[in-house]
Amino acid sequence: MPSSSSVLLEQFFLSVSTMRSLLFVPADSPRKLAKGLESGADALILDLEDSIAPLAKESARMGAAEFLQAHGGRAGTPRLLVRINALDSGLAEADLDAVAPCAPWAVMLPKAGGGADVQHLGAKLAVREAENDLSDGLIGILPIATETAAAIFTMGSYRGASRRLRAMTWGAEDLAADIGAQTNRLANGEFSPPFQLARNLMLFAAAAAEVEAVDTICANFRDETLLRRECVEARRDGFTGKMAIHPAQVAIINDVFMPPAEDIERARAIVAAFADNPGAGVLAIDGAMIDRPHLRQARRLLDRIAAISG
Ligand code: COA
Ligand code: MG
Repeated sequence: MPSSSSVLLEQFFLSVSTMRSLLFVPADSPRKLAKGLESGADALILDLEDSIAPLAKESARMGAAEFLQAHGGRAGTPRLLVRINALDSGLAEADLDAVAPCAPWAVMLPKAGGGADVQHLGAKLAVREAENDLSDGLIGILPIATETAAAIFTMGSYRGASRRLRAMTWGAEDLAADIGAQTNRLANGEFSPPFQLARNLMLFAAAAAEVEAVDTICANFRDETLLRRECVEARRDGFTGKMAIHPAQVAIINDVFMPPAEDIERARAIVAAFADNPGAGVLAIDGAMIDRPHLRQARRLLDRIAAISG
């Protein structure tokens, strides 16, 4: 069993590769799959879960597998994830049988209940990797960590749980159904307090687990003002990207989550200043105090830039 700190380190190197926009595409729709490729999204989430009717599950699995085979891992194409059905849905095994042999970058796990569920899914992936001559640990996991009330109380358990953990995200629709909320939004479009709490806890959980935090969807895809506001607030708080449900949302998300040139310049200056003064714990740049947390943040930003442009 690897130590928790070596898991965190390995996980960090696997996850330093930013996705600003992650577009959901129902995997039973060849038309939308084709559109997704041209959308400019950094990642596509081929959906087998909530956007797929019960009778269309098998055709969605086949659609996802074919798409992964045709486009997975190719330079210049978006990163490909598959959202499977929940572990207790009775559908997850068949989902994994169909898509794991095609080696998606990650499996998105809905209704995740904590680190133990990530480990449980990891074991299922390990078996399929071995059966298909794929290297152990190749397929990552991206849990949706807030879809049940019980999950809110296990948020700290993702830290160190699995080197497969690639990022984390949250969702408000299933959580609303689970707690019996009439709505998850206020009249002005903002999330109501229980859902803001879920968002914020997930943000801390992702930071504690040393993976990127991805913001939830804005379902009202014609409201560009609301989308932009959510993106700006998410970036301000430390999220590195956001999920989308419509191609029209991608450009706005990519725009807001692309760090501005002056931030990049400043990060380069901070890294250079510490490189020039290897013994220093604290330095001054442009009249402001710079110490280790600033250096860490600067390096993180430069890693993200390298990933976006690479
Ligand atoms: N991915 C790829 N292409 C998409 C898309 C998506 N998520 N959503 C829409 N498109 C395509 C449409 O097929 C259409 O293409 P066409 O002109 O070639 O037919 C074009 O973009 C414009 O779509 P539009 O007419 O504005 O929307 P719509 O009414 O066809 O679809 C939704 C609206 C909500 C049904 C659709 O956006 C969708 O399926 N979103 C994803 C839903 C999902 O995955 N939910 C689960 C996660 S919460
Ligand atoms: Mg759902």
